[in-house]
Amino acid sequence: MGHDAATLAAILSGAGFIAAEEETAELLECAAGDDAVLDALVARRLTGEPLAWITGRSSFCELEIRVAPGVYVPRWHSEALARRAVTRLPPNGTAVDLCTGSGAIARTLMSRRPAARVVASDIDPRAVACAAANGVEAYLGDLFAPLPRALEGGIDVVVGVVPYVPTPDLPLLQRDTFAFESPLAYDGGPDGTAILRRVLRDAPRFLRRGGALLLELGGAQDRALRPDLARLGYTGVKVLHDEEGDVRGIEASLT
Ligand SMILES: C[S@@+](CC[C@H](N)C(=O)[O-])C[C@H]1O[C@@H](n2cnc3c(N)ncnc32)[C@H](O)[C@@H]1O
Repeated sequence: MGHDAATLAAILSGAGFIAAEEETAELLECAAGDDAVLDALVARRLTGEPLAWITGRSSFCELEIRVAPGVYVPRWHSEALARRAVTRLPPNGTAVDLCTGSGAIARTLMSRRPAARVVASDIDPRAVACAAANGVEAYLGDLFAPLPRALEGGIDVVVGVVPYVPTPDLPLLQRDTFAFESPLAYDGGPDGTAILRRVLRDAPRFLRRGGALLLELGGAQDRALRPDLARLGYTGVKVLHDEEGDVRGIEASLT
């Protein structure tokens, strides 16, 4: 295989990778001048394996985040939710990042609010280990279950990119996503709202009055959740949209 940047970029581009030049630069840096290592890295990438698993890192909200193989790669489209969560977290406050994966959102909160306490959970041991490697206080288990009981009633912000893809839509995910990433990261049950609804139900035990809940979701899930939000005492519900006008999340306060 050619080892100069232009040849590698042409190989990646020919294989359909749209950011071929940027990816080439990252792979070259990762191989650190070792051609055999570079060949192995490029071969992995050509199988569709996520670049972040190969290089061991990804960028999120201007931070470098370690990403171990098998762990969900943080997506740029979640950055807006993380930034909103920062605005709701007082300097000395406390936040929970549910389903933290690599810990990207927790790390964002920690970097913008260094005096705050940020805790996180994930059900996948690989994710918890990765988040811990990123400096996050991460607990292994289902949603709120593994979190310290002492936090109940005092949390300022609960944020989460929980699985919200409807089970029947899983095969429609990008080929590489479906082939490499775990369905555990995506599967939100029959209509995608099963875990979102559990979070709505359980968050009031942890949130203080006036505390904020911010969740990523998509499609018409914001409308599907409205009755639960009202019944469970959330107010000030805002639907968060991306630049294309698509629904990307909800933000609400606990009364
Ligand atoms: C879509 S990923 C989001 C990861 C991270 N928040 C991010 O944005 O990069 C969802 C994560 O939820 C975790 N997960 C799935 N079901 C869970 C549950 N019941 N409790 C805790 N974590 C769960 C998965 O292991 C995965 O890491």
